[in-house]
Amino acid sequence: MEKKIPLKDEAFLQHPILFVLVLVSALVIMDPLKMGPLGGREYRPVKHSIAPYKQVMESWPRDNQSRLGRLGKLEFVGEVFGPESLEFDNRGCGPYTGLADGRIVRWMGKDVGWETFALVTKNWSEKLCAKGTDSTTTKQWKVEMKCGRPLGLRFDKESGDLYIADAYYGLLVVGPEGGIANPLAAHVDGKPILFANDLDIHSNGSIFFTDTSQRYNRVDHFFILLEGEATGRLLRYDPPTKTTHVVLDGLAFPNGVQISRDQTFLLFTETTNCRLMKYWLEGPKTGLVEAVANLPGFPDNVRINEKGQFWVAIDCCRTPAQEIFSHNPWIRSVYFRLPVRMSFLARLMGMKMYTVISLFNDKGEILEVLEDRNGTVMKLVSEVREVNGKLWIGTVAHNHIATLPYP
Ligand SMILES: *[C@@H]1O[C@H](CO)[C@@H](O)[C@H](O)[C@H]1NC(C)=O
Ligand SMILES: *[C@@H]1O[C@H](CO)[C@@H](O)[C@H](O)[C@H]1NC(C)=O
Ligand SMILES: *[C@@H]1O[C@H](CO)[C@@H](O)[C@H](O)[C@H]1NC(C)=O
Ligand SMILES: *[C@@H]1O[C@H](CO)[C@@H](O)[C@H](O)[C@H]1NC(C)=O
Repeated sequence: MEKKIPLKDEAFLQHPILFVLVLVSALVIMDPLKMGPLGGREYRPVKHSIAPYKQVMESWPRDNQSRLGRLGKLEFVGEVFGPESLEFDNRGCGPYTGLADGRIVRWMGKDVGWETFALVTKNWSEKLCAKGTDSTTTKQWKVEMKCGRPLGLRFDKESGDLYIADAYYGLLVVGPEGGIANPLAAHVDGKPILFANDLDIHSNGSIFFTDTSQRYNRVDHFFILLEGEATGRLLRYDPPTKTTHVVLDGLAFPNGVQISRDQTFLLFTETTNCRLMKYWLEGPKTGLVEAVANLPGFPDNVRINEKGQFWVAIDCCRTPAQEIFSHNPWIRSVYFRLPVRMSFLARLMGMKMYTVISLFNDKGEILEVLEDRNGTVMKLVSEVREVNGKLWIGTVAHNHIATLPYP
């Protein structure tokens, strides 16, 4: 890709090249033709606090056997479209999962197959929204806002109700029989919630959920990463008063959220900053936020296992170029105004997609690392659920679920 153009007579060319460079940079920075991938958006890159690349990568354990790639199995290929979050009901049936076409579906066993369980809007229609395997492509983008995009899913252990964080419709709930979900929180402080992403239910009934950005919705999520903007929030919905509260503000792409088994803290991922964070709910540190682990890539959901440990789904990987970018917003400002495709720019930065999933204890110590180095089984992994000796792995952008016997 990075072809070098041979220069025959450098001395002669020096001045014209300088001139052209200045001209091109000026054009690129002003982007008068709206040709860059940003397409004329107001784009304000800022510095963000990401741990040094070298420090993280040198200490990060590698899975040299690429066990996820070798032992993982693809299931339901072409039957589920971008299954982001995977959940099982109180009888252990499932998985239930939210799809890119806006539906929440559940697996009913081989005879019945996948069944539509719930919708986040009564405006959902097969004609408008059901695009099959195309749902995970840009073809869905135009209708995604109307059809919904259910992300985080959680069953309430007592009532059997399913709580849903939908990227466009906010926090919703649907009874154990399914149907059209009821909205609980679509606004906070009088403003619409732009990008609800994941949730967890506290034992006292309060729902903690993430709102990824106040500036960009899900379709535009790549710009959150590019800018490093930090307008994301952790929110809390209290059922007794039906009120929604801002718990934390100023987060850089808050994504997955998981409350600890003893309810004393919750973990959430900050995708832009490649880290796992802890927010204390009880004890002497109540209200404090700490970074518990720096990750080699961009984390999505966090899910607890039966031992109270935490699986984090990570899209790999960070690159040295990204580090330079994150500390120098002006470079990003120029780079991403170049009139070429975003995917090409990402490749130039050395971004190669593969997957790492990792298990942490409550102190952020790494207990397990499983990789799929060649991205054979999984790319853009979104969640890992450990259930009865098996890992279930979701993905936001592909049409399958991966499974892996574990431990
Ligand atoms: C994996 O490979 C790297 C480099 O090739 C090496 O430094 C590391 O010790 C290996 N890890 C294990 C667990 O074998
Ligand atoms: C990745 O793919 C290359 C080429 O296809 C192959 O040689 C290599 O063994 C693969 N590595 C793993 C860990 O699967
Ligand atoms: C459903 O569609 C109607 C007509 O397009 C629109 O007015 C209404 O706001 C939509 N409702 C929801 C919940 O999106
Ligand atoms: C539940 O506990 C959380 C964490 O301590 C607290 O913020 C919230 O207000 C509580 N909710 C209710 C309904 O008491």
